[in-house]
Amino acid sequence: MYRTHSNGALNASHIGQEVSLAGWVQKTRDKGFMIWVDLRDRYGVTQLIFDAERSPAEIMERAKTLGREFVIQVTGNVIERESKNPQLPTGDIEILVKELTVLNEALVPPFTIEDNTDGGEELRMKYRYLDIRRNPVKQKLIFRHRVAMETRKYLSAQDFIEVETPYLIKSTPEGARDFVVPSRMNEGQFYALPQSPQTFKQLLMVGGMDKYFQLVKCFRDEDLRADRQPEFTQIDCEMAFVEQEDILQTFEGLTRHLLQEINGVKVGSFPRMSYEEAMRTYGNDKPDIRFGMKFAELNALTQHKEFPVFNQAALVVGMAVPGAASFTRKEIDRLIDWVKRPQVGARGMVYVKCQEDGTYKSSVDKFYNQEDLAAWAVATGAQTGDLICILSGETHQVRTQLSALRMELAERLGLRKPDEFAPLWVVDFPLLEWDEELGRYHAMHHPFTSPKPADMHLLDTDPGKVRANAYDLVLNGNEIGGGSIRIHDKATQARLFDLLGFGPEEAKEQFGFLMNAFEYGAPPHGGIAFGLDRLVAILGGQESIRDFIAFPKNNSGRDVMIDAPSAIDLEQLKELSLQIRKA
Ligand code: AMO
Repeated sequence: MYRTHSNGALNASHIGQEVSLAGWVQKTRDKGFMIWVDLRDRYGVTQLIFDAERSPAEIMERAKTLGREFVIQVTGNVIERESKNPQLPTGDIEILVKELTVLNEALVPPFTIEDNTDGGEELRMKYRYLDIRRNPVKQKLIFRHRVAMETRKYLSAQDFIEVETPYLIKSTPEGARDFVVPSRMNEGQFYALPQSPQTFKQLLMVGGMDKYFQLVKCFRDEDLRADRQPEFTQIDCEMAFVEQEDILQTFEGLTRHLLQEINGVKVGSFPRMSYEEAMRTYGNDKPDIRFGMKFAELNALTQHKEFPVFNQAALVVGMAVPGAASFTRKEIDRLIDWVKRPQVGARGMVYVKCQEDGTYKSSVDKFYNQEDLAAWAVATGAQTGDLICILSGETHQVRTQLSALRMELAERLGLRKPDEFAPLWVVDFPLLEWDEELGRYHAMHHPFTSPKPADMHLLDTDPGKVRANAYDLVLNGNEIGGGSIRIHDKATQARLFDLLGFGPEEAKEQFGFLMNAFEYGAPPHGGIAFGLDRLVAILGGQESIRDFIAFPKNNSGRDVMIDAPSAIDLEQLKELSLQIRKA
């Protein structure tokens, strides 16, 4: 037996017992006649003591050769520590070692295996297995496990059944590019890895499974960001005989359960907001509603004077930033530079300070009087001490710019508190989005999403106005889930494919299997998928998903540890009927 206890288990109640422990050498302190070793495993750290007077001489000698990260096994007695460490659960005791076995030696690790390491990102990723020994990474993986287990427990109790769907499939349109896999046995043909199990879960509904879920890997070849990985995990769900309301209730239930069980946070009913309102009041379809700074449209209050910038704008929009009237001229100039960066792209920013004496000081005092500025303050809800920031320009652009500024200022002002949770349903998304580049519509969610019955008549006359039975779950300004009620009849599905520019042949080629299935008694159905990595990160108080994934890819989609992707040899290429063409 390698061990009787873990390294986190022993305390004063074990004093006098003989125990065996195994783990990694975290640290050694050699005082000549006494050697202390901190022994670490997943569960904690236990202090070992080798004492020239009480430990066998050869054990003492061997202890002197121990290096960092050696894997060892010891047997000894639990004794009371002289200087106790109240920070550690095992801090009252130590093990007086009688037997020591070195199970494996270790090279000196390339970075310190401590909570605060000296290793940079790239190095830690290259030696991810060492990084995982560190508490912050290990804890995040354990945290993820808890969220996954609670999810399974909740959904299973609600009669959902976990069904696995295939990874070698053909393209599922979720808006990204596919990763493809060549087929050796079918020369010149390729599988696509699923961007989601969307079509399969719909087929499971036709199959009568009724309530399906799956914690499933999805693959999308798209630009990477802090909240995006090329392979990520969804909590993918589908239900039959449901309307939008049923789905919202069920998955609000799941989210509430997770917040309660994982974070100990109780939340009431989730607020709901239409896509249109989200864009108008926050400039964003995933607003962070933990704080205010709502937008106020100021066209009517600004376009009556001689200020050409505002007069020429499609939209003049402002927000009140709490307490920011105290920003110095320099700070405001820096803010203006910030919104003018190419990543944000504003041409400038107008500001109004709501001063302590009740007067207003603005960057456009030349054009507007105190009465005008007071009206802007009323519209934006600005109080004494606030700063009103105003941008103007093309509607969509200017909303996006002010939204970026809102998030930046909230971050700087400490308004995005990681232990506060503000979920929100965004509903009534448009069904279609006009693609300027391609000169046609594409599906805002995906092509299987049902139009709102009330908007059905607009499909022929004004497709851009049709709203969908589609919804996103937003948590603290992050889209953690999205779904829709699906089309379940062949005629509407064919109509949608047509609108999206798939000819009948192409639609049949790509989605014939689904259209056929719809002819064999498809029930009304709908569903949702949560991004598990994102959900876990946000419940864990962070926005970057990388540390919540055991072996993530870097920003170029590479796994620097195993060095993938990589070239394959000529033989393998030939076998797959592939050729690399040299430029
Ligand atoms: P959608 O494309 O909105 O919907 O994806 C659902 C959720 O998955 C997460 N997500 C990602 N997480 C990490 N890295 C990525 N690259 C990534 N892409 C998406 C997001 C998102 O909200 N089949 C539909 C669901 C449905 O209609 O039921 C779908 O996949 O949190």
